[in-house]
Amino acid sequence: MDDYIIESNQKKSRMPARLDFAQSGTGLILGLFMWVHMLLVGSIIFGKGSFNFVAKTMELAFLSDTGHGFPIAVFFAVFIVFTLFIIHALLGVRKFPISWKQHRILRDQMQMMNHSDTTLWYIQVVTGFLMFFAGSVHLYIMLTHPDIDPFISADRIISGNMWPLYLILLICVELHGTIGLYRLCMKWGWFAGKDAKKSRQTMKKMKNRATIFFLTIGILALLVFIVIGIKHRDRVGEKYNNHAAVVEQVQADEAIPVKEEIQALEEGQEKEAAHEPEAIQPSDVTKQYGVT
Ligand code: HEM
Repeated sequence: MDDYIIESNQKKSRMPARLDFAQSGTGLILGLFMWVHMLLVGSIIFGKGSFNFVAKTMELAFLSDTGHGFPIAVFFAVFIVFTLFIIHALLGVRKFPISWKQHRILRDQMQMMNHSDTTLWYIQVVTGFLMFFAGSVHLYIMLTHPDIDPFISADRIISGNMWPLYLILLICVELHGTIGLYRLCMKWGWFAGKDAKKSRQTMKKMKNRATIFFLTIGILALLVFIVIGIKHRDRVGEKYNNHAAVVEQVQADEAIPVKEEIQALEEGQEKEAAHEPEAIQPSDVTKQYGVT
């Protein structure tokens, strides 16, 4: 028995390495996903139509006869991302300082060493902790309401009071994601040149640029959503497609009487013109109604 205990103690477990590998893998997928996600959400900067096109494409609208798409496709995407998010978070918790004492020791050592990569690791721990709550709320809402639409999203942000949570989540995700991808490159030696110090500096520069780029897109997108949401406050729940259809219908309805009126006027004036050469010409009437 003693021999067995000694032997099993001597045997190094591969579990920590496997868990580390799983954490890197899920982190890589989520980090790259967030870049794509931010570009897609950023389409709102180019207008409601652009965002609607992206949303409908995500809902695989091109496969449906009605053009309405399948929100269930978004549900499945969110389900996969949420699962990866939870796995990644659970694996990350292993490395958190679990008591105030541990936290104090860590902070003291960080101050003593003044090592920038250790500071980056600490930022990751803090942002990861905040994202655990903020990210879960966002993902749960997307899971239960997999409805993406410029007005619905903007209503969620303003009338649903989600903007403070999105702002916190945005800052956390951009810091956490780019630091995470940078640390992955360092850890596994990706893109490492011959001069290790130089490639570390280059990677750090790229990391900072990526953070600024995605943070700018995210903040601009949030501002555009806020403006749309404020303007749409009295029509919460109305979808962009319905709104576009209503506008089209109203324009069509308004156009019919005006056209008929113009036609009647023109016909009448044509008759009058046959007797009075000085009468108003049809072209003047059409100009007055703005019809060319
Ligand atoms: C497949 C999964 C996901 C989908 C379908 C999705 C979809 C969306 C949509 C449609 C918006 C616009 C606002 C809204 O409609 O509420 C949004 C905003 C946002 N999402 Fe996600 N999201 C996903 C995953 C994530 C994850 C994992 C995170 C980070 C943990 C995240 C962070 C954010 C942030 C920070 C915003 C605000 C961005 C801004 O307004 O600039 N999302 N997301």
